[in-house]
Amino acid sequence: MSFTQNSSAAGPASVGETPEPGPHNAVRIIAITLLLALFSYIYLGRANKKKLEEAIAKQHHCEPVLPYLPYKWPLALDLLKRQFEILLSDHAFEGLTPYFAVAATCCIHLFGATGYFTTDPDNIEAIISTNFEDYGLGSRRSAFLPLIGEGIFSQDGQAWKRSRELVRRQFVRVQKQTLQVLTPLVGELLSSIQGAASPEGLVDLKPFMFEYTLNTTTNLLFGEPHSSMSKEERDAVRDNFDYASFGCVGIRARLADLGWLYSPSKFRKSCKAVRDWATFFAAKAFKYKDEFGEEAAMEKYAFIIDLWKEMQDFDLVRDQLLHILLAGRDSTASLLCWTFFHLVRNRDVLERLKQEIASVPTDGDITREQVQKLPFLRCCLNETLRLYPTPPLNIRFANKPTVLPRGGGADGMSPVLLPEGAGIAWSTYHLHRLESIYGTDSRIYRPQRWESGELLKKARPGAGYLDFHGGPRLCLGKDFALTEASYAIIRILQKFPNMRLAPGVPNEPVGAEKTGLYCWSISYRWYTCIVDVVRPSKRRKGVQGIKLLQMTKSPRKPLL
Ligand code: HEM
Ligand SMILES: *[C@@H]1O[C@H](CO)[C@@H](O)[C@H](O)[C@H]1NC(C)=O
Ligand SMILES: *[C@@H]1O[C@H](CO)[C@@H](O)[C@H](O)[C@H]1NC(C)=O
Repeated sequence: MSFTQNSSAAGPASVGETPEPGPHNAVRIIAITLLLALFSYIYLGRANKKKLEEAIAKQHHCEPVLPYLPYKWPLALDLLKRQFEILLSDHAFEGLTPYFAVAATCCIHLFGATGYFTTDPDNIEAIISTNFEDYGLGSRRSAFLPLIGEGIFSQDGQAWKRSRELVRRQFVRVQKQTLQVLTPLVGELLSSIQGAASPEGLVDLKPFMFEYTLNTTTNLLFGEPHSSMSKEERDAVRDNFDYASFGCVGIRARLADLGWLYSPSKFRKSCKAVRDWATFFAAKAFKYKDEFGEEAAMEKYAFIIDLWKEMQDFDLVRDQLLHILLAGRDSTASLLCWTFFHLVRNRDVLERLKQEIASVPTDGDITREQVQKLPFLRCCLNETLRLYPTPPLNIRFANKPTVLPRGGGADGMSPVLLPEGAGIAWSTYHLHRLESIYGTDSRIYRPQRWESGELLKKARPGAGYLDFHGGPRLCLGKDFALTEASYAIIRILQKFPNMRLAPGVPNEPVGAEKTGLYCWSISYRWYTCIVDVVRPSKRRKGVQGIKLLQMTKSPRKPLL
C-alpha cells in the first residue's frame, strides 16, 4: 500500500530532486535495467542476425538482386496504386507482364521494405519444395482469417501438419469411392445448361460451372446435397462468397501487412454469411450424430465426423470445411470454364477431343479406368492449367535467413540471401507463358504440346509447371478436381456435340482475353456458346449473332 503511494509521489514531477533511496527507486533501477537489457537484446539480436546473414551469404557466394522496379512516390505507393488499377482492369494478370519481364528475379521497395518476385523455376522449386521449412505464409494468413478462420490454408508449422494429415485422410477415402456419386450431379449440370439455353441454343456456361463445383463439394465431401438449402440461401451464399473472397484475395492479400486495414462492414457481413453456410452443413451432421450415433453418422458424414473426432470443436470443424470450399470451388470451375472457352475457339482441338471421348458409353456411370484412357483430355486439362493457373500469383515469407539459388549479381545467376521476414512472390501465370520453357508458341492454346511427354521433362512439375503446386503443400484435391472436371467435360460434349462459339462473341488471342481476379473472366459473355439444345426452327434461321447475344440471360452482377 505505502509502496504504491510512494512511487506515485516520486513520479515525473520529482525531476531535479535527488531521488530518495527506497523501494520505488529499486523498482526504477530494475525497470531501467530491464529496458536496457531488452534494447541490447534486440540490438545485439539484430547485429547477431546480420552477422549470421552475412556468414550465410558468404558461404553460398550470394550476391544482391540488382533489378528493381522504379517508383516515384514515397514508400513506392505509386506501385501499389498501379497494382490496384491493374487488378480492377479486365487484364488483372496480363497487366503485370511488364513487371515480370524486367528480370527473372527482381526486387521491389514497397512501404520502405524490400520484397522480391520471380518467375525462375529453380527459385520456385526452392521455395515450395527444397527449402520448404524456411518459408511461411506470412500475411496470407491474416488476409484470409476473417473469411475462413483456422485451417489448412491459413496454417503453418505443426498446426498445418496436423490439418494436412486430417484432410489428406478424407481425400484418400474419397479417392476410393466410385465415380457413381458424380453421375446425378453431372445430370443436374446438363439439365441446367439445357434449361437455360435460348431457343437458338445460346447459353453462358460460366455460372453453371460454379454451381456444379459447389454442388460436388457439398455432396461428396460434406455428405449433404446443396438442395437441402433453399434457392435464396444458395444464391446468397454464392454472392457473399464472391464478395468475401474478392476482399481477401484481391484486397487484403495485396496490402500484405496492412491487410487488416480493409474490413468494411459489408465485407465482414459477407464473411459471416459464408461461415453460416458452413455452419448449416456442420450442424446437420452433428444433429445426425446426436440422433443416430457416431457410427451411423460416420457412414453419411464421414468427412465432418472424422474432423470432429480429431478436433472436438464445432467451430474448428466448420472452419476446415470452409477451407475445402475455398480450395475447391473456384479453382475447378475456372479449369472448366477456360477449357470450354478454348474448345469452342479451337475447332481442331474440339474435334479431336470428341473423337477420343466417343469411346465412353453415353449412359451409365463413367469409371476411373475410362477417364484414364483419355490421354488427349488430360493434355487439354494440362494446357488449360498452364495458361490459367489457380492461383496465378503466390507468395511466401522467409521465416529465417535463407538462400534463393538464383537471381543475384550482374548476370542474375548468383544465389541470393533472403533475410528473415522477406517476402517473395512468384507468378505462375507468367512462368507458364515463358518462351524459354514452352516455346515461341507459348501463348497459343495447343494441348498437343503435352502429347510426347518431352515438354513435361523440360518444364518439371513443381518447378517450371505448377498445375497443382508442388512439394509438401501439393494440392490435396488434385485427383478429385481432375475427375470432377473430366466427368463434366465428357458428358457435356456427348450431350451437345455441336457446341460452338456464338456469333458476335469475341475471339481474341491468348493474353488479350478478359480475366478478372484469379484467372477467370469477369464477363459472362466470354463463355457464351451455342449448345444446340433445340434445333433452330425455320423461322429463326436468319437470326444474326449480335441479336442472339442480346437474347442471352442478363449476366449476373459483376463483382466490382
Ligand atoms: C483445378 C482445380 C485445382 C487447382 C488448380 C488447385 C491448385 C492448388 C494449389 C496451387 C494449391 C497450393 C496453394 C498454396 O499452398 O499456396 C492447392 C492446395 C490445396 N488444394 Fe487445390 N486445387 C484445385 C482443386 C482443389 C479441390 C477440388 C480441392 C478440394 C475439394 C482442393 C483442396 C486443396 C487443399 C486442401 C489444399 C491445401 C494443401 C496444403 O496447404 O497442404 N483443391 N491447390
Ligand atoms: C446444384 O444443385 C441444386 C440443388 O440440388 C440444383 O437445383 C442445381 O440444378 C444444381 N446446379 C448444377 C449446375 O448442377
Ligand atoms: C499433365 O501434368 C501432370 C503434372 O502434374 C503430369 O503428371 C501429367 O503426366 C501430364 N499429362 C500430360 C498428358 O501431359
